[in-house]
Amino acid sequence: MSKLEIESHSSDDTIARGREIGAQLSAPLLILLSGDLGAGKTTLTKGLASGFGAASEEEITSPTFALVHRYSGASVPVYHVDLYRIEGTRDLHTLGLEDVFAENAIVIVEWPDRLKMHHDWTVLRVHLEHVADDSRRILIDAPFELATDPNPLKRTRTTTDF
Ligand SMILES: Nc1ncnc2c1ncn2[C@@H]1O[C@H](COP(=O)(O)OP(=O)(O)OP(=O)(O)O)[C@@H](O)[C@H]1O
Ligand SMILES: [Mg+2]
Repeated sequence: MSKLEIESHSSDDTIARGREIGAQLSAPLLILLSGDLGAGKTTLTKGLASGFGAASEEEITSPTFALVHRYSGASVPVYHVDLYRIEGTRDLHTLGLEDVFAENAIVIVEWPDRLKMHHDWTVLRVHLEHVADDSRRILIDAPFELATDPNPLKRTRTTTDF
């Protein structure tokens, strides 16, 4: 079990935190991202999915209109789903995701409360909050151990430096 509270002071900081966590993930895993518009869910996903090796950070864009993006650069696919615009009657079937929980994959969902999902997957919950213009609080609740560096952006030296 890991409950982490991270303070991010820039988009790059959020991406770096995401990368660090993404590198530690294993499938199957459902990641639920909650938080207001602009809280940084998509920004964090850039880090999570690139850290996992699914795509480069630049390739990972908001699936606001497509609702689902699939990245296949890692050993298992990463799905990035944004349910903000989903209409009431739609379900995973209309998103083409009816079999996603039968696959081995990482599924990252923004606005997860908009759709009931039936699965028995491990769930990583992340909540993002605005603190100030460029500051966000990132609250992570993982049912497994996650290691984080207290300050990854300032990690400039390695043990080979001496
Ligand atoms: N510390 C920070 N972490 C993340 N994003 C930040 C931070 N500081 C500023 N930002 C900016 O806030 C915005 C976050 O947008 P992002 O698309 O990631 O939010 P979102 O939660 O996915 O929103 P939506 O619900 O609309 O999809 C971006 O413009 C980003 O540059
Ligand atoms: Mg988004």
